[in-house]
Amino acid sequence: MEISADFSINVLARLLDVPPEDNQQLIDWGNRIIGNTDPDYADVLLHSAESEQYRDLPFRSPASPEVFEYGRELARQRRGKDGTDIVSRLVNETPRDGVPLSAQDFDNYFLLLVVAGNETTRHAMLALLQHPEQLARLKDDPSLIPSATEEFLRWASPVYHFRRTATLDVELGGRRIKEGDKVVMWYASGNRDEAVFDNPYDLDVARENNDHVTFGKGSPHLCLGNLLARTEIRIMFEELVPRLADIKLAGDVPRVRSNFVNGIKKLPVEVTLA
Ligand code: HEM
Repeated sequence: MEISADFSINVLARLLDVPPEDNQQLIDWGNRIIGNTDPDYADVLLHSAESEQYRDLPFRSPASPEVFEYGRELARQRRGKDGTDIVSRLVNETPRDGVPLSAQDFDNYFLLLVVAGNETTRHAMLALLQHPEQLARLKDDPSLIPSATEEFLRWASPVYHFRRTATLDVELGGRRIKEGDKVVMWYASGNRDEAVFDNPYDLDVARENNDHVTFGKGSPHLCLGNLLARTEIRIMFEELVPRLADIKLAGDVPRVRSNFVNGIKKLPVEVTLA
């Protein structure tokens, strides 16, 4: 966990060009916001009466205004300068569609960057611990790491679902969906669809044509960080696998209480280096 949480947050800190001293703060915000249904993380539990007063904030989290303020301060410092980090570009450039980001767009976009995707390497490691024969295959043949990366993403489904609102009447899988209906897309279920995947409950690091829906699919909202997340996972395992002589679970693996993210709080391991 020290590695997996730290790695993705370091990448994020570089993208934002903020000092590494802020890493823990970024991790804590992500936990407090995404963990809004877990008593260990949430300031105010999502469905409590108290959360009503935060209903207009992302994830109804009192941590959201703290993240907004942090982002706004970075924006103030960088407006009109020539930085190449993502905040500088957001405040100094106009998107290709010619529509500048509003102040609210900036707040929400910044918050999404901070909370998005710092989980998956934990899942990949856990999957390998539970399937030592798959780890052995990777050690024998590291050229499988790219296909393993896609399989880890399918297997873990780190984001369980998103909800969207239908913009027109449509029939899908024999069901009528009316314009304005709220539709929940269960990526975790799609990733175990036996009509798409052979033996969907098997972890297979060499799986081919792995058409998973982990980052959403066919949507203008396809995960913006998907290439980054894929690259992080691939590099992590390219570096890690050759160094491992042995790795074992060394304790319980508590999960985040959530129907939104498949979160792991702790992953204690015992490692023997090669
Ligand atoms: C394995 C890690 C990740 C998973 C599983 C994941 C999953 C998702 C999913 C399911 C969506 C919604 C897609 C849709 O509605 O069609 C999404 C959107 C998004 N993700 Fe990720 N994500 C990950 C990592 C990241 C990272 C590392 C970043 C950025 C640093 C990121 C930034 C975003 C943004 C900005 C959106 C919104 C895009 C939009 O609304 O246009 N994600 N992600």
